[in-house]
Amino acid sequence: MSDGGRTRRLAIEVVTLFPEFVAGAVRVGVVGRALERGIVSVGIEDPRSHATDVHRTVDDRPYGGGPGMLLAVEPLATAIETARRRLPAGSPVLYLSAQGRPFTQARARQLADGAGFLLLAGRYEGVDERLIEELVDEELSIGDYVLSGGELAACVVIDACARLLPGVLLNERSAVEESFGAGLLDWPHYTRPETWRERTVPAVLRGGNHADVARWRRQQALGRTAERRPDLLDRVALNDLDARLLQEYRAARAAPPGAAAGPAAGQGPEDNTGDRQRSPAD
Ligand code: ADE
Repeated sequence: MSDGGRTRRLAIEVVTLFPEFVAGAVRVGVVGRALERGIVSVGIEDPRSHATDVHRTVDDRPYGGGPGMLLAVEPLATAIETARRRLPAGSPVLYLSAQGRPFTQARARQLADGAGFLLLAGRYEGVDERLIEELVDEELSIGDYVLSGGELAACVVIDACARLLPGVLLNERSAVEESFGAGLLDWPHYTRPETWRERTVPAVLRGGNHADVARWRRQQALGRTAERRPDLLDRVALNDLDARLLQEYRAARAAPPGAAAGPAAGQGPEDNTGDRQRSPAD
């Protein structure tokens, strides 16, 4: 929790109509531990508690008609301003919406490096555009699909940020080495037993040669990223060894099942399936 002698804390506020949803989600697992250790704090503000009418109304009809309701402006604005006062000065207000900029590992890192932020979870058809202009610094989307509310998205952002803070993960290296840490997808992982349902752990991982293991993992990360997320690979600077590893990976993938794997034999992707050979299409 100490970072260069200073204590790092991340203060998060969530404005939501479903406080119990967010409060429950952040209590478990890695985020729960970060909360217990005081590395992260999560405050919650419910616009309903700022509604002024007897029915505690938090929705309102859209100008121009059409189906659906919007979040009522005034209780929402008051909730945001109340929560914002609890945050360090300069903390951004982030509105979770499908219209937002994609939330990425790089953005998670930036937010985790800051002092705090406010997450506004929308409901209904959304919020009045003027409220966004007035009080929101950035709209964030967690993916190209529409959720029925921003709470799940808010929990995603909290999780992705909290686990990056010093002292949260039991193994700090996990956050550096895993998917996206280096702009690549993660390599495959294996645990006991050595053979499970006729599939054997790749020989290189059982061999105990750390350099070979590192080479194999790098090759798997490169190969998987090329296959599954070529868009990510375009943004990674590959050195000569990377290019060679990728070439070997592709050659082994293209080879018919059971064929020798060329220069990468014993370390190539064909090892991924152990003793049981399968075609790439399996
Ligand atoms: N609210 C609804 N859909 C969303 C999405 N994809 N990302 C973030 N917030 C949302």
